[in-house]
Amino acid sequence: MDFVMSELSIRQRYKILVSAITPRPIAWVTTLGTNGVVNAAPYSFFNAMGDDPPLLVLGLLKDIKSGGDKDTATNIVETGEFVVNMVSEDDAERMNLSCVDAPRNVSEIDYAGIATAPSHVVAPPLIASAPVSFECRKREIVEIGPRQLIAIGEVLVAHVRDEFVDDAERLYFNTPAMRLIGRMYGPDVYIRNSDTFQMPRGSFDPDHLHAMRVAKKGEGQ
Ligand SMILES: Cc1cc2nc3c(=O)[nH]c(=O)nc-3n(C[C@H](O)[C@H](O)[C@H](O)COP(=O)(O)O)c2cc1C
Repeated sequence: MDFVMSELSIRQRYKILVSAITPRPIAWVTTLGTNGVVNAAPYSFFNAMGDDPPLLVLGLLKDIKSGGDKDTATNIVETGEFVVNMVSEDDAERMNLSCVDAPRNVSEIDYAGIATAPSHVVAPPLIASAPVSFECRKREIVEIGPRQLIAIGEVLVAHVRDEFVDDAERLYFNTPAMRLIGRMYGPDVYIRNSDTFQMPRGSFDPDHLHAMRVAKKGEGQ
């Protein structure tokens, strides 16, 4: 079946995107409001987008009820700083508690019982239990349409908890031991990142191309 996006409601478009684009990593974002309140919320419209400079992007939709910016968006626009913390299985429940629509003057840090630690170069704190945290400075805010902002952040400092660093010189990390989770389809389905397989990358082989062409010709007969 084909689905023409312009003929669908916002909700339907969202459903198609999130049903198919899986798994999505989860950015557990900490920001500091100009009111001094530390905010924490999960965002799965998220990924790494480059390495020079090292970039992360967040898709920040408007709040469904108010139609206004979510606190994370407001804080990033106003302060230019945020921290992306990766979510381990151990933190799953706290992450889930932190997605509630808490009033702006209530910190999800208190609500979800999240332990924080000071960042090195930005004001919002790290989530202490996160296996990895990225201190980011806003590079650009892209506003496309009335319902969303895309925040592009440059990673200034990456923190990897010592227990996950096998060899600091060669940058060997024990990613499986981090037990990170991702978001799947539907509002409440998650995935563990333990179901991996290996596939070595090849380089161009003219014999392989020839074999493919011969096989295709054979199919046509
Ligand atoms: C796993 C997960 C992923 C989410 N991803 C997004 C997202 O990518 N974009 C978004 O706007 N909201 C997303 N949400 C919803 C926000 O976390 C929720 O609206 C939250 O209340 C926003 O908090 P804030 O106002 O403190 O920023 C997600 C929620 C969960 C549980």
